Amino acid sequence: MEHRSSFLLSFLLLLLLLNSASAQLKQNFYQNICPNVENYVRNAVEKKFNETFVTAPGTLRLFFHDCFVRGCDASVLLASSSNNAEKDSPIGQTLAGDGFDTVIKAKAAVDNDPNCKNKVSCADILALAARDVIVLTGGPSYTVELGRRDGTISTKSSVHSSIPLPTFSLDKLTSMFSATGLSQTDLVALSGAHTIGFSHCARFTKRLYGFSRRSSVDPSLNSNYAKQLQQACPKNVDPRVAVNMDPNTPRIFDNNYYKNLQQGMGLFTSDQVLFTDTRTTKLVNLFASNSTAFQQAFITAITNLGRVRVKVGSQGEIRHDCTTVNLRRDYMSFHRREEIDTGRC
Ligand code: HEM
Ligand SMILES: *[C@@H]1O[C@H](CO)[C@@H](O)[C@H](O)[C@H]1NC(C)=O
Ligand SMILES: *[C@@H]1O[C@H](CO)[C@@H](O)[C@H](O)[C@H]1NC(C)=O
Repeated sequence: MEHRSSFLLSFLLLLLLLNSASAQLKQNFYQNICPNVENYVRNAVEKKFNETFVTAPGTLRLFFHDCFVRGCDASVLLASSSNNAEKDSPIGQTLAGDGFDTVIKAKAAVDNDPNCKNKVSCADILALAARDVIVLTGGPSYTVELGRRDGTISTKSSVHSSIPLPTFSLDKLTSMFSATGLSQTDLVALSGAHTIGFSHCARFTKRLYGFSRRSSVDPSLNSNYAKQLQQACPKNVDPRVAVNMDPNTPRIFDNNYYKNLQQGMGLFTSDQVLFTDTRTTKLVNLFASNSTAFQQAFITAITNLGRVRVKVGSQGEIRHDCTTVNLRRDYMSFHRREEIDTGRC
């Protein structure tokens, strides 16, 4: 009797172990499936980067938005005939087209090898492309964990509750990050991604004009920087105008973002608050003074980001076209119509 129950128990434990092992990503997932996948992606990303710099910030931000909405499952790439996908949301519409194009081109390069065709997920291609643009702009290299599967659902309505706003306090940012399993240190390190790329004026004009009853300019903003921003973004500016988020080295993935914060030169409230809120001041000072410490923390954080709610094993699918789900008819019968309006008619 006792033998039997302990046998059962160890059998159950083994099942549990096997299950959790298969629920994990692996660094060499495509070793026997498509051994050259990393070269194909890197080449396509580099070619695109040589054509336009926006490739780098566009792709990096796309990875963040993919992982924060429904997990890293390439749901951000899905297009909807009725404009109901994540990319159609107000926030989704600010994602750079060149980021999407980078993944499409990398997928085409991978699928050009007959052995690799339809075997590498769009979610993994995006994770690799994000690493590659960090390296191309001078940031640290790291090994990307792989084995994500692509999701089949993308809805406009799921974006607003998942993506933090540039007006957020440290409490709000921290709770949104912890909802996805990321720590406050991950938040501070990942925000360093704002060392490259642009923001449209509308995201921060509240800090320049009519901030509060007491002062029209946000007092946490460096006054010279505020003047520069007012010049670049006058009231009623063309909504397409964008400014560099790191005014000093906008094309280099460095720790200058944290040095800016120390000077009151964080572009968004959500940036500046990392320095002004005493709970994270020390970490900002560390990353500003020690680039190695920043790079190490960033690698840990982006690896954690890449694990958020991933689909593995037989979950999801390997999408053939990153913008559309496979076998739409099968999938129609499994989901309610309003949830899946992401494909062609
Ligand atoms: C912590 C909370 C965050 C907030 C509130 C935030 C907010 C924003 C906003 C408002 C923009 C400008 C979009 C526009 O032009 O309309 C932006 C741009 C950008 N964000 Fe964030 N972000 C956050 C975290 C992150 C993270 C974690 C990453 C990546 C790891 C990231 C990467 C980027 C990049 C690279 C850009 C520039 C995009 C481009 O030039 O096309 N952000 N972010
Ligand atoms: C991109 O440009 C660099 C520098 O000019 C060059 O060495 C490299 O071969 C180019 N890469 C691709 C894939 O075209
Ligand atoms: C910078 O950070 C690294 C990594 O945490 C650490 O090993 C190194 O000692 C630090 N350097 C200085 C000058 O504090």
